[in-house]
Amino acid sequence: MCGIVGIIGKEGVVGHLLEALRRLEYRGYDSAGIATLNDNRIERRRAEGKLSNLVKLLEKDPLPGSIGIGHTRWATHGVPNEVNAHPHATDKVAVVHNGIIENFQVLRDELVAAGYKLASETDTEVVAHLITKFLDDGLLPEEATTAALKQLEGAFALGIIFAGEYDLMIAARQGSPLAVGFGDGEMFIGSDAMALAPLSENITYLEEGDCAVITSAGVTVKDVEGQYVVRSVQETALSGALTGKAGYKHFMLKEIYEQPQVIGDTLHSFVNLSEKTITLPELPIDFNTVPKITIAACGTAYYAGLIAKYWFEKIARVSVEVDIASEFRYRELVMPKGGLAILISQSGETADTLAALRYCREQGQKILSIINVPESTIARESDAVLPTYAGPEIGVASTKAFTTQLTVLATLTIVLARARGAIEVERESELVEALIELPARVADVLNHDERLKELAVELAAAQDVLFLGRGTSYPIALEGALKLKEISYIHAEGYAAGEMKHGPIALIDDGVPVIVIAPFDSLMEKTFSNMQEVIARGGRVIFLTDEEGARRLGNYATHTIALPQVDPFVAPILHAIPVQLLAYHTAVIKNTDIDQPRNLAKSVTVE
Ligand code: M6R
Repeated sequence: MCGIVGIIGKEGVVGHLLEALRRLEYRGYDSAGIATLNDNRIERRRAEGKLSNLVKLLEKDPLPGSIGIGHTRWATHGVPNEVNAHPHATDKVAVVHNGIIENFQVLRDELVAAGYKLASETDTEVVAHLITKFLDDGLLPEEATTAALKQLEGAFALGIIFAGEYDLMIAARQGSPLAVGFGDGEMFIGSDAMALAPLSENITYLEEGDCAVITSAGVTVKDVEGQYVVRSVQETALSGALTGKAGYKHFMLKEIYEQPQVIGDTLHSFVNLSEKTITLPELPIDFNTVPKITIAACGTAYYAGLIAKYWFEKIARVSVEVDIASEFRYRELVMPKGGLAILISQSGETADTLAALRYCREQGQKILSIINVPESTIARESDAVLPTYAGPEIGVASTKAFTTQLTVLATLTIVLARARGAIEVERESELVEALIELPARVADVLNHDERLKELAVELAAAQDVLFLGRGTSYPIALEGALKLKEISYIHAEGYAAGEMKHGPIALIDDGVPVIVIAPFDSLMEKTFSNMQEVIARGGRVIFLTDEEGARRLGNYATHTIALPQVDPFVAPILHAIPVQLLAYHTAVIKNTDIDQPRNLAKSVTVE
């Protein structure tokens, strides 16, 4: 999962390539590199680590050229170093790649046997050498590329330039997203529209198996059968300006603080405030007759799906299955005719979630996606999309995308319940009311930030942290543990509170902080028993509850945070905020790279 970009420009392209790479750095930051043409030759600059290292290198050793390709890497094959950094090149061709060439070892062995010398450990380098081999055989660049593509197995988005060819770039897509942007006598390629936003307002998305031949005059596209096709050109609504940190120290903190606003924005598009009803956009789905709902997603988005399962089953009385997309796609699940599949993804590009979508489509399911990036592949392949209005999420740790996903899923719960006759009018009004109040209550939760910052000192000193919850608080426990792990690098586990006694309770001692998430609801007393079991074994409990929960049980815990009292329906949305802030402040104390934590990338476009 990497970011790729390419430009055929009128003058030096390196500045624009770097700006586009900056917008793609969320896809990986293990290394970065650029190749251009100079005196008919391919020249490269590559640097290990973040894009800033490449920028420094280019300041010392600039790279002219009016055509070029660039790459920001999340390492799959080969350690993150300069030799493995893209672009990979021979003296005839340079290649940037996002994806995985699964048969690279076979191809590599054949190339080595034929006398080609490969320098890196990457799968990508075989593509450069394979095209070179066909060029050596006398084929023209397009022919050589087509011949090479036929031999590749796996997933790829490729950008390719050729020595001596100032007005030619070839792009190919199979399984990894790729957009072509149009300028005035200039052309662009990029992994997503965001990368191209400052350069081009008109974008074409390549489809599976497409190969595009790009010159400064435009693009011709051949499909997987080798037939010429015309792909539609869309105007992109994305802003050219990459949002800054607005005075916050990190994007993550800014995004946490944006939640009252973006939850409000998301609600405004679905809630009729005067009538206190929910109206979703016209969807080609009959909720009344849907026999079963299947939800697939990854990471934080999966936890949003887990909460939706509780809501859909309890409130809308519909049977729900939810799974991690990477497991789901190989389970060969039997799905009922006329079923509904819901895919949840911030980026809309997560490879496993996309594969799950395609499996559901093959099984005849209606596809509904909940997506933050409307131009994304998952959004484009869905029958219907419910957008989250979180705005660009730059921090690798998902925060506002999660709570807006939950907001959309909560509105969907109400619509489903109404369509299925599972909810009384009065209760429906109560739920809508609770949603309308949500942005204000989320803002109230942010007032606990200072206190959470103090508690983070305790977490930062720990080696292991446990998060416990029941019902809809259980996925929040999982999410709290994920947030803490990914940005503070402290080992953390989320558990269903009632499951503790079946094993994990052995971990409890006074060195393991236990965060118990339990608003005042029908399950609180049960969770309280589990909390007592922890306290009895010397565990230190941080109790995240609401005012009523604190009044009843707050004295038992080492620390208690009393969040605003809300309808239990929306409580998980509210309780997501303190676990985000705890993770954030712990990571600040640990001095980690919060917005770009080690080994991670924002969008995971490989399996
Ligand atoms: O873009 P997606 O929502 O599909 O991404 C899914 C996960 O990769 C993502 O939520 C990941 O777990 C986050 N880093 C969690 O903070």
